[in-house]
Amino acid sequence: MPAPLTIVIFGASGDLTSRKLVPALYNLFHRRRLPPEMRVVGVARSPLTDDAFRDRLAATARERLKQEWQPERWDEFARRLAYVPGDATQPGGLEKLLAWLRQAEGPDGGRRLFYLAVTPELYAPIVNALAETGLSREQGGWRRLVIEKPFGRDLASARALNRTLTAHFHEDQLYRIDHYLGKETVQNILVFRFANLLFEPVWNSNYIDHVQIRVDEAVTVEGRGGYYDKHGVLRDMFQNHLLQLMTLVAMEAPARFAADPLRNEKVKVLDAVPVLTAAEACRQVFCGQYAGYRSEPGVDPRSRTPTFAAVRLQVDNWRWRGVPFYLRSGKGLAARSSEVIIQFRCPPHLMFPLPPGTTLQCNRLSLCIQPDEGIHLNFQSKVPGEEGVKLCPADLEFHYKDAYPDLPIPEAYERLLLDAIQGDAALFMRSDEIERAWEIMDPLIAASERPDAPAPEIYAVGSAGPAGADAFLAREGRAWLSLCHH
Ligand code: BG6
Repeated sequence: MPAPLTIVIFGASGDLTSRKLVPALYNLFHRRRLPPEMRVVGVARSPLTDDAFRDRLAATARERLKQEWQPERWDEFARRLAYVPGDATQPGGLEKLLAWLRQAEGPDGGRRLFYLAVTPELYAPIVNALAETGLSREQGGWRRLVIEKPFGRDLASARALNRTLTAHFHEDQLYRIDHYLGKETVQNILVFRFANLLFEPVWNSNYIDHVQIRVDEAVTVEGRGGYYDKHGVLRDMFQNHLLQLMTLVAMEAPARFAADPLRNEKVKVLDAVPVLTAAEACRQVFCGQYAGYRSEPGVDPRSRTPTFAAVRLQVDNWRWRGVPFYLRSGKGLAARSSEVIIQFRCPPHLMFPLPPGTTLQCNRLSLCIQPDEGIHLNFQSKVPGEEGVKLCPADLEFHYKDAYPDLPIPEAYERLLLDAIQGDAALFMRSDEIERAWEIMDPLIAASERPDAPAPEIYAVGSAGPAGADAFLAREGRAWLSLCHH
C-alpha cells in the first residue's frame, strides 16, 4: 500500500483554486489518474465548513467543466475535499492543518504536495511556517512544493525567494509553475523539432531569417487590475511564458526527456541571450496600453503600466547568431492567438519572374499554440494556367482537432498537477532558469519604466494593437505575421 497522498492547497478561497486547480483535479480523478486514497485539503484564513467549501467549488467546477461534469463522480471526488482554516502569518497559524494531517494520514504519515496558490507576499511566510511546524519534514513520504507565478518581480526578489525556498526544501522538491509548459502544443514544439529529422538541419541562422513569438490576448485585465498594474505585461507574460517558448524553439536536443537534461539545455539558451545595457534596452522594447485601462478597478488613473509590449532579443551562439527573436504580447487585442513563427530565408536565386513591384513570400512555419492548435507550413505553389509560371503561397496545415477528433486537449494544470504528484519536474522551472530570465528582462523593464521613457502608446480594445509595434519591426524591414486561424 503506498502512503496516503494529500494535496494541500494554500489559497483555497482564491480564483486559481476554484477555476483551475479543482476542475483539473476532478478531471484527473474522473479519469482515474489519481491514487484512490488521495485527499485535497484547502487552507485559507476565513472559517468555513467542509460542506460550504465543497459547495463553493462545485458551483465553479460545474460551470467550467461543462459536459465533463458528472454529479455522481463529483460527489465521490468531493468526499476527498476538506477545508482547514490557517494563517501562516500568525504564530501557530498552521497548527490546525498539522492536526488534520496527523489524523488523516495516520501514524505512518504520508506524501504531501503543498500548493501555493496565494499572493506572492505569502510565499515566504508559508514556507517558513511549514518548516517551523515540521510539516515539511519528510516523514512517511515525500514533501513537494508547487509555487505559482509571479516568481519575484526582478532578479533580486527572485533570488531572495529562491533562498527562502532552498533554506527548507531541496531543489528537487520544488515545482515552479509556468502553465505554458503544461500546454500540449508547447510540448509539441519539442516533439516537432526532435522527433522529426526534416526541419532540424535547417533550424539555424543559415536558413532562418527571424523568429516571432506572439501571445495575443483578447481579454483585458478582467478584475485583476490591482495585481496587473504592479506588474505589467513584461513581468506577467515575457519573463515567464514568452521566454519559455523561446527556449524551446532555440535549444539544442537534450539526450533524454527528463528534468535535468531538458532544463540544462533551456538554461544554455538563456545564457546565450545577451543582457542589454540600459541604452541598448531602450531601443529593443516598445510598449502600449489599451484605451480604458486606467479606469479599470485597482489601476492607478495615471498608470503607465504596459498592457502590450514588443521586444527584440538575440541568442548569441553558433546556431542563432544574427537571427532576431521578436516577442510580443498584449491584452485587449482583436483575437486570442499564440503562435511561434519561423520565417525562413529566401532562395538564393529565383528563376521565375515575379510581377513588377512584388516580392517572393519565403517559407514560413507556424507552430500554433492556441486556440487553433496545430502547425502551418507556408510554401510557394504554381498557379494552374498555360502561360508562364505564376506563383502563389499555399499552406500545409495540421490541426489537432482533425488529427485527434476524439481526444480533447487537456488543460495545462491537469498535466502539471499529475507531473508534480509523480515527481517529474521536466515541465517546471529550475531556480537558475528563473533567475536568468529575470536578468534578461530587468534592463528591458527598467527601460520601459524610466521617467524619460515614452509613454505607452494607447490602442483601442479589439484592435490589432498599437501602430508603434508595426514600426518597431518595420525599421528592420519586417512585419508581424500570423498563419494560425483565429
Ligand atoms: C497568466 C497571466 O500567467 O497567463 C495572465 O497572468 C494571462 O495575465 C494568462 O491572461 C494567459 O494564459 P492562457 O493560458 O490563457 O494563454
